[in-house]
Amino acid sequence: MAQSLAGKVALVTGASSGIGWELARQLALEGCRVGLVARREEPLRQLAAQIAAQQGTAVPVVADVGCRPQIEAAFAQVRAQLGPIDLVIANAGIGRPTLRDPVNMEDVEETFRINLMGVVYTVSAALPEMLARRSGHLVAVSSLAAYRGLPAESAYCASKAAVNVYMEGLRLHLRGTGIKTTTICPGFVTTPMTANNQFHMPQLMTAEFAARKMIRAIRAGKKVYNFPWRLTLLVKLSRWLPDAVIHWAMGDYETEAQHAVAQRRPDQPLPP
Ligand SMILES: NC(=O)c1ccc[n+]([C@@H]2O[C@H](COP(=O)([O-])OP(=O)(O)OC[C@H]3O[C@@H](n4cnc5c(N)ncnc54)[C@H](OP(=O)(O)O)[C@@H]3O)[C@@H](O)[C@H]2O)c1
Repeated sequence: MAQSLAGKVALVTGASSGIGWELARQLALEGCRVGLVARREEPLRQLAAQIAAQQGTAVPVVADVGCRPQIEAAFAQVRAQLGPIDLVIANAGIGRPTLRDPVNMEDVEETFRINLMGVVYTVSAALPEMLARRSGHLVAVSSLAAYRGLPAESAYCASKAAVNVYMEGLRLHLRGTGIKTTTICPGFVTTPMTANNQFHMPQLMTAEFAARKMIRAIRAGKKVYNFPWRLTLLVKLSRWLPDAVIHWAMGDYETEAQHAVAQRRPDQPLPP
């Protein structure tokens, strides 16, 4: 049975942009008091002001999810201002391509630090209090990319696959404790993360629509929620396709990936 979220205290990481912003905004509209966590203070303050203007309550807290003391301090601040945390959404993440020659190792390390360790630190910071209260809901925002390693996206896909397996193990470990977990794997969503993608993104969704679907899955207490379903099917079926087909379907993504990395790093020459 779908559970009401009204009156709950929620903490959302990556609330300064995209999916996290929408999740926090919609949770506040549902009557949650929300802790907003990300590195950039200004957008967090803007969102908190928007929520307050709609009679909601939100606390902006600056923290890097990849830094354990910072995320633990963020939890302490939200608890002090809003009370015990009922719902945690570990949503913060980055999307950086993985190059081949040379491998952009700093990006790879940063991807695992934020996308994987960020989730681990976030859910772990919530656990002691939830275990003591014998209630709570831990949610991780993963990706359909978790189900298929893709060329020039090795680190991103691997980080999300690791999140899925981590959350699966945690779910089994938490059996009987009163704590629920949900792993959410969205397809393509219009956010700053996908804004510069040059390739066709099938079944692209707005962040508003995606957040609505995600909150419905959280309310329903789903263990894993993959969406949209047609892209999910395609991604899962693609595991049985020969490598040559995937390589062909990805076209010249390798070149696009090199451009994306070089644009962030002026020291690296743009590929032709
Ligand atoms: N967009 C898609 O198509 C899509 C599809 C599947 C899954 N996802 C996943 O959905 C999540 C949200 O992505 P999005 O599309 O909304 O991207 P986005 O608009 O770029 O937002 C990413 C959010 O994560 C935060 N963040 C990044 N690094 C952080 C860090 N070290 N510490 C704290 N916060 C950090 C950013 O805030 P600051 O920069 O202020 O820290 C921002 O609020 C990610 O986990 C992503 O992998 C996205």
